[in-house]
Amino acid sequence: MSLKQFSVGIAMTALLTGCGFESVTTASNTAIDSAAQAQAAGISHGEYVARLGNCVACHSTPEGQPLAGGLKMAVPMLGFIYATNITPDAETGIGSYSYEEFDQVMRTGVAKDGHRLYPAMPYPSYAKMSEQDMRALYDFLMKEVAPVNQANLPEEIEGIRDVRWAMGIWNVLTTPDDPYETDTDQTDSWNRGAYLVQGPGHCGACHTPRGLLMQEKALNEDGSAYLAGAPLDHWMASSLNGDINAGLGRWQAADVAEFLKTGHNRFGTAFGTMVEVVNNSTRHMSEYDLASMAEYLKSLPAQAEADATPYVTSTTEAEQLAALDFSEPGSQVYYEYCSNCHVTTGGGYYPFQPPLAGNPVIMDADPSSLINITLNGSLRVFTGQGPDVNDMPYFRQLLSDQQIADALTFVRNSWGNTAGPVTAEQVAVIREATDPSRNDDIFVLRMK
Ligand code: HEC
Ligand code: HEC
Ligand code: HEC
Repeated sequence: MSLKQFSVGIAMTALLTGCGFESVTTASNTAIDSAAQAQAAGISHGEYVARLGNCVACHSTPEGQPLAGGLKMAVPMLGFIYATNITPDAETGIGSYSYEEFDQVMRTGVAKDGHRLYPAMPYPSYAKMSEQDMRALYDFLMKEVAPVNQANLPEEIEGIRDVRWAMGIWNVLTTPDDPYETDTDQTDSWNRGAYLVQGPGHCGACHTPRGLLMQEKALNEDGSAYLAGAPLDHWMASSLNGDINAGLGRWQAADVAEFLKTGHNRFGTAFGTMVEVVNNSTRHMSEYDLASMAEYLKSLPAQAEADATPYVTSTTEAEQLAALDFSEPGSQVYYEYCSNCHVTTGGGYYPFQPPLAGNPVIMDADPSSLINITLNGSLRVFTGQGPDVNDMPYFRQLLSDQQIADALTFVRNSWGNTAGPVTAEQVAVIREATDPSRNDDIFVLRMK
């Protein structure tokens, strides 16, 4: 299964037909009720919530009907499960769910027939959704989505490894299931951003490191690990806190909103699993919601880099490359294979090719994302707004582990960037695990 094969970016557009506006009738709390923002975005309240939650990314396959299920996901150390059919088909989907049963499975992971879901379904985040949004989501799934008769695939978890029963204990140990509570010391827009990020947007499912029980180490800003960056499927979902070099410390709120809306900004481009998030979810959000998420993220303090020296640009490597001085290891590989797009200054060509100089992901302590994109390229961000960013080519066949390690070590320590070296062994591990000819090695919460 090739990494290039996955794209449900367009799948959700099939759902777009026939969705009218919904009038806002109940008194609403702007932080936790998405009705007004749905109206601003021009889609129904329920579809808007489905976008916020990115249900389509997991509950669809690239070839299949939207929301009819079938995507294979890994449960760490246990085996594989398949995301289920959540179209309103009474036999194979969720057509027989009452609102109360739906609300229960969305918040606690207990399905209508009593079986417990594995947290590959991010119910610990959805538990924070407001009742208004949950009801709108239910109405959307029941009334606006066409039923698809498609049986769920059986899980691939054998015998004693099947620990669904234990998920009840897991929930008690790890997961509060209370809806989001407004913090009255903060602005409305901060609260709106916190609600979106922690709740329906489930950003922490990828961006927060996990503990021994595979639970997210923190579910809100009270924990220092919250959104501090985490590895997943051989991508590194980078730090979204105020870390000055590898986090969002040097970004303005407007940079964050632009990235979520268009998939790129002056610092970098969305790639890896973040492409699915932009394509299916954040690009559909209203301006107010994007600005609110940016405000909330920008309020998270620096953690790992609280004392780090901020990035300062340097011209040394650009001058060396221009003089064809290849004394620095990796510089010649960079010059020959990378510099026609990312250029000798590391500055790229905005918006078509991202800069590598000063780009937070380049300075991440964990280089997995860099290795993965250099080996395999990336899916394209598809925003339908202005020119799309070009594709990053894949160098799996062209470059050896050592060449990729050297080029990335050079990139991580040029033009002012500072980060640890990349080893050939690290490249070898990701090359093997992401080999397109393999289909059996999917990792935690495989999204795509
Ligand atoms: C990160 C991937 C992921 C996302 C995002 C996701 N789900 Fe799921 N969902 C799953 C998986 C996997 C299962 C099956 C879990 C299991 O079998 O233990 C599931 C199960 C469910 C079920 C239980 C259905 C049944 O068969 O009884 C419902 C309902 C559901 N999801 C609704 C949603 C909705 C609505 C959204 C969007 C707000 C959503 N999911 C987003 C992965 C996801
Ligand atoms: C499916 C996993 C996944 C989810 C869910 C996810 N992200 Fe990401 N995100 C990533 C990965 C991987 C990267 C690193 C690659 C890149 O920069 O695009 C990333 C990068 C980012 C970046 C750029 C950081 C930088 O330093 O360049 C921002 C901003 C971001 N995510 C915000 C969010 C927000 C906000 C949410 C929730 C609405 C979210 N992400 C949900 C996987 C995810
Ligand atoms: C044909 C143009 C092209 C060449 C050649 C190229 N890249 Fe890229 N690269 C891109 C584009 C376009 C993106 C952003 C789009 C994407 O994520 O697919 C990107 C993204 C990246 C990123 C992620 C940064 C971010 O914020 O998106 C890294 C790291 C990277 N390239 C490294 C390299 C290395 C190392 C080489 C040489 C071995 C290289 N690139 C060669 C076009 C290119």
